[in-house]
Amino acid sequence: MADLDLSHLWMPFTANKQFKTQPRLLTGASGMHYTSSDGRQILDGTAGLWCVNAGHGRAEITQAIARQAAELDYAPAFQLGHPLVFRAATAVAEIMPKGMDRIFFTNSGSESVDTALKIALAYHRARGEGQRTRLIGRERGYHGVGFGGISVGGISPNRKVYSGALLPGVDHIAHTHNLEKNAFSKGQPAWGAELADDLERVIALHDPSTIAAVIVEPLAGSTGVLVPPVGYLERLREITSKHGILLIFDEVITAFGRLGAATAAERFGVTPDILTMAKGLSNAAVPCGAVAVRREVHDAVVNATATGIELFHGYTYSGHPLAMAAVVATLDIYRREDLFKRAAEVSPVFEAAAHALKSARHVVDVRNLGLVAGIELKSRDGAVGARVTEVFQKCFDQGLLVRYTGETLAVSPPVIISEAQIAEMFERIGSVLATVA
Ligand SMILES: Cc1ncc(COP(=O)(O)O)c(C=O)c1O
Repeated sequence: MADLDLSHLWMPFTANKQFKTQPRLLTGASGMHYTSSDGRQILDGTAGLWCVNAGHGRAEITQAIARQAAELDYAPAFQLGHPLVFRAATAVAEIMPKGMDRIFFTNSGSESVDTALKIALAYHRARGEGQRTRLIGRERGYHGVGFGGISVGGISPNRKVYSGALLPGVDHIAHTHNLEKNAFSKGQPAWGAELADDLERVIALHDPSTIAAVIVEPLAGSTGVLVPPVGYLERLREITSKHGILLIFDEVITAFGRLGAATAAERFGVTPDILTMAKGLSNAAVPCGAVAVRREVHDAVVNATATGIELFHGYTYSGHPLAMAAVVATLDIYRREDLFKRAAEVSPVFEAAAHALKSARHVVDVRNLGLVAGIELKSRDGAVGARVTEVFQKCFDQGLLVRYTGETLAVSPPVIISEAQIAEMFERIGSVLATVA
């Protein structure tokens, strides 16, 4: 790799200058492992970026993509279709919560979020409540990087540079993180359902008649794995229904087995009105996202227009044939291998291994649900983030890929992970923590 010029690429969400002095390059992937440019096998503790849920290099998916590329490389997404996009929509609808069977395709999580927010506005307008334009997010929420997503999102560094240009009419409810009450909870924390009542406060402030939608990640991932307290999502559902406000679950990382079910909505038994997805939808083999919409919401928009286009929204690559081939093949693998159930079955082993880190050096919290865990570390005095960055690098050097955000290590492996690999992953993290100052 000595001849590789690293200067031209501006890398996303990366410390570019630092990276280029010490690059980490991946050159291959198969099953649970990446191959690094220096020929090492790296156990994938993060399913890429929470997306390669069925494991890397699945032959059924790559073959389906290759076949599709040879047969029909592209079909215009507007005013024309191709059979596979309809098949893919049907396959997605089949695993969505009951009634959420209208599917809009996008190419990413960020696009799915923008699409969901726009559908919410279109819905209220179609019903003669066009004054409902306000959108409510949550502190610490991550909803991608579009202007809509960062506006409803609640991660300050993602917002501050762009703060003058964020969407107007957005507010946020409180996040659910509380170490004093909930540190080392296994699964859903017992305390915190009442935090949902913050939504009543925000609604009262603005008046319900001005609010279009509330968007939350059912389990907040990117901010450092915040598991919803018992009863919290149920309460959000109750409050939004009471006031005629749409509830959007951003399931870009929680769908497709991560929590041991097709969706977090199914896992928690709470059905939103709109559900965004991406990542595991295509096993990340081709970029793809989608929005599942409750039938009544879809019908309100589509039936409000007698003739012509009903929703002025869409992407050149909505339902791209290669993405659709990947989606159909991916969902087929999930079904044939019963991977969502498998994730549920192995999650007690994952939970026990994660919580074994409770006594490891620097650890102030372990949070988990399904096959996702957050391990929060104490900040090094005067150097916020330095310790966790060092742990990430050392894990990588020792053949394990994890992620970090703030002071939290996040672990979210492909759901095909074996019990031995679960043990290997957490033991490696524990041994690295022991060596870090
Ligand atoms: C909850 C959530 N929403 C949206 C996104 C954005 O997805 P993308 O990076 O595909 O635009 C992410 C990405 O991590 C996410 O976790």
